[in-house]
Amino acid sequence: MNANKSKKIVVLATGGTIAGLAADAAKPQNYTAGQVGVADLLQGLAAEGLELQTEQVAQIDSKDMSFSVWQSLLARLAHWLAQDDVQGVVITHGTDTLEETAYFLQTVLRSSKPVAMTCAMLPANAPNSDGPGNLKDALAWVQVNSSCGVAVVCAGQVHAAHAVQKSHSHQRNPFTSQAGVVHPAALRVPSVAHVLACKDWPRVELVFNHVGADGRVVRALMTGDAPQGWVVAGTGNGTLHHDLEAALLDAQKQGAQVLRASRCAQGGVQSRDADVLPHAGGLTAVQSRVALLLHLIAQSA
Ligand code: SIN
Repeated sequence: MNANKSKKIVVLATGGTIAGLAADAAKPQNYTAGQVGVADLLQGLAAEGLELQTEQVAQIDSKDMSFSVWQSLLARLAHWLAQDDVQGVVITHGTDTLEETAYFLQTVLRSSKPVAMTCAMLPANAPNSDGPGNLKDALAWVQVNSSCGVAVVCAGQVHAAHAVQKSHSHQRNPFTSQAGVVHPAALRVPSVAHVLACKDWPRVELVFNHVGADGRVVRALMTGDAPQGWVVAGTGNGTLHHDLEAALLDAQKQGAQVLRASRCAQGGVQSRDADVLPHAGGLTAVQSRVALLLHLIAQSA
């Protein structure tokens, strides 16, 4: 730890509940995300021997996360990680799409320095807000951690970027990690430069299998300006209602790439002899969508 003391940690802020404010601090559930600037979030958290550099990359509720914010974040992250005097980076982010951003950054960047994403479930002005503690833990994790890659530091736990999943909508510790998540070998990963240069992101839609899934939503969208990709969150081991499967096979014939995931929270999809459509292994449906987006970008190179 002493060897790292003279190095700098960069904090890239994107908004979220950690930067949220409630109009009435006694009713913290009524708040607006992305209100407090990064300098204020760090008030009182600077530790001895720790040099901090901050940037406000965005100030949004992460439900509104966009490809352009992803590109800005990736550009700033790549920039800072390439500096010799930077020990690592902390990213503040809303919890709602954090797992998508974490998967995106980890897959594209393959960072050799620690990157800790952190967040909060209570706004900054709530009594006992969890934000300052999580941010402090994230800074400490980057300071002492020499292992590489993106991790999520929240509620006293550390989750690997490829494993993390928001599995509770309101408790202080909303994340769990699932085992067996590996980026599918068949899906290509574009370079950082290629992602940053991408102006026209592919469209990948997400559809669920469910009782009465007749595939009409797929057929309706496959006319005109059709998506280039579909991820289907199948039932159980990625199984599909035969009408939905028929619609997706037709979409595939029209040139769309289709990937099956599972709507189950854990386990993903395991191969079976009778498989018709490709699957994304242990990836969740939202991770599969990120993986397919990246694959389509890589294919367009
Ligand atoms: C958000 O994702 O920006 C809002 C919710 C949260 O941070 O917990």
